[in-house]
Amino acid sequence: MMITCKRFVFETKLKMGIDALMVLVLLVSLFCLVASCEEEQQNQKLRFDENGEFKILQVADMHYANGKTTLCLDVLPSQNASCTDLNTTAFIHRMILAEKPNLIVFTGDNIFGFDSADSAKSMDAAFAPAIESNIPWVAVLGNHDQEGSLSREGVMKHIVGMKNTLSKLNPPEVHIIDGFGNYNLEVEGVEGTGFENKSVLNLYFLDSGDYSKVLSIPGYDWIKPSQQLWFERTSAKLQREYKKGPLPQKEPAPGLAYFHIPLPEYAAFDSSNFTGVKQEGNGTAGISSASVNSGFFTTLVSAGDVKAVFTGHDHINDFCGKLTGINLCYAGGFGYHAYGKAGWSRRARVVVASLEKTEKDTWGDVKSIKTWKRLDDEHITGIDGQVLWSKNSGG
Ligand SMILES: *[C@@H]1O[C@H](CO)[C@@H](O)[C@H](O)[C@H]1NC(C)=O
Ligand SMILES: *[C@@H]1O[C@H](CO)[C@@H](O)[C@H](O)[C@H]1NC(C)=O
Ligand SMILES: *[C@@H]1O[C@H](CO)[C@@H](O)[C@H](O)[C@H]1NC(C)=O
Ligand SMILES: *[C@@H]1O[C@H](CO)[C@@H](O)[C@H](O)[C@H]1NC(C)=O
Ligand SMILES: *[C@@H]1O[C@H](CO)[C@@H](O)[C@H](O)[C@H]1NC(C)=O
Repeated sequence: MMITCKRFVFETKLKMGIDALMVLVLLVSLFCLVASCEEEQQNQKLRFDENGEFKILQVADMHYANGKTTLCLDVLPSQNASCTDLNTTAFIHRMILAEKPNLIVFTGDNIFGFDSADSAKSMDAAFAPAIESNIPWVAVLGNHDQEGSLSREGVMKHIVGMKNTLSKLNPPEVHIIDGFGNYNLEVEGVEGTGFENKSVLNLYFLDSGDYSKVLSIPGYDWIKPSQQLWFERTSAKLQREYKKGPLPQKEPAPGLAYFHIPLPEYAAFDSSNFTGVKQEGNGTAGISSASVNSGFFTTLVSAGDVKAVFTGHDHINDFCGKLTGINLCYAGGFGYHAYGKAGWSRRARVVVASLEKTEKDTWGDVKSIKTWKRLDDEHITGIDGQVLWSKNSGG
């Protein structure tokens, strides 16, 4: 796609100077082509690598503000003097280098609006390492992104206009939906295989809002019926397509859902049945979901394709636990200008989906989904590796 765009520019240069009208025609068509290149970039397809893998890096709660003048929170006294937002930037660079993901997902509170002098500039700096890497990236909103100079809509519009992002403001086919940044992405099988035109892994991104707008309900926002209806319809459509030819499948392709605020069901676990830690709050459920349950977990279970949900929001929780066949996972806090726990490393979550090798020695559909985390320590240590889902053990 990039090659096509470059060649056109080159050919245009050669033909310039024929006459004024010709130049005008060429300029107009060049403009249209650049516009369609950009559009193509936004519609760029994701697919599994030749090695049969697709890897996602989740970055939760960067809380980026003004760069080198924004200090860190909750680091050891010995680390305090030399620590700023630039440490968050350095950590993203290290993670990208260590993992070389196929997609980077930022799950909200990407910027900390209260402390940002200019929301657009904060976002430009926060996402710069992802953009420089040339890896496709997406973002959803948290509850702090809109606290600066831009509204939630303004923040999401800015994100959608950035380079290399596949983020969308909202699904174009839906006229009424709550929030900004509800969309899905399809990940196709390996090129040249029977699954090359089928989405074998489905990614859903939702806006979990900020704070309740209902006076009698305190606390955080929740995923609304309009968003759940969009999710249900999208999931059903993807499942119908997957069950059709070529290579009609019996089971739905696995799905992963990413948003900011955890669901109330995240409170269902203790250390006997999760991997990671829960150290948020004291004497409470240890999670900060909405105070009401809007039923999205039930919607996910009923739809049947989503195997894991990934959120941020609670910076010092980083666990994954499985409830009714769905893994509920945190990434753990990433950003240095976000509250944390001194001496407990900032971290990120990695998910890798692996395809099945078929009898014909080609790649099939998704066989397993694994996850681990990496810490921002000297060796960028990997911890808590676990299998979230595998095809043959169901669930
Ligand atoms: C960390 O350093 C900053 C600036 O040097 C200072 O304002 C802040 O109080 C320090 N915090 C702690 C916990 O030492
Ligand atoms: C932040 O970055 C500085 C400069 O590279 C480094 O000296 C310091 O150790 C980092 N702090 C933390 C907490 O990683
Ligand atoms: C995928 O679509 C392309 C373009 O339409 C087509 O040439 C190719 O044969 C399709 N592959 C399969 C496996 O159906
Ligand atoms: C986890 O274990 C606790 C008991 O230690 C139990 O109360 C809870 O229901 C379990 N949760 C899940 C999701 O299995
Ligand atoms: C919870 O309370 C214990 C005992 O008072 C304290 O040591 C710990 O730091 C508290 N944890 C949090 C996350 O506030």
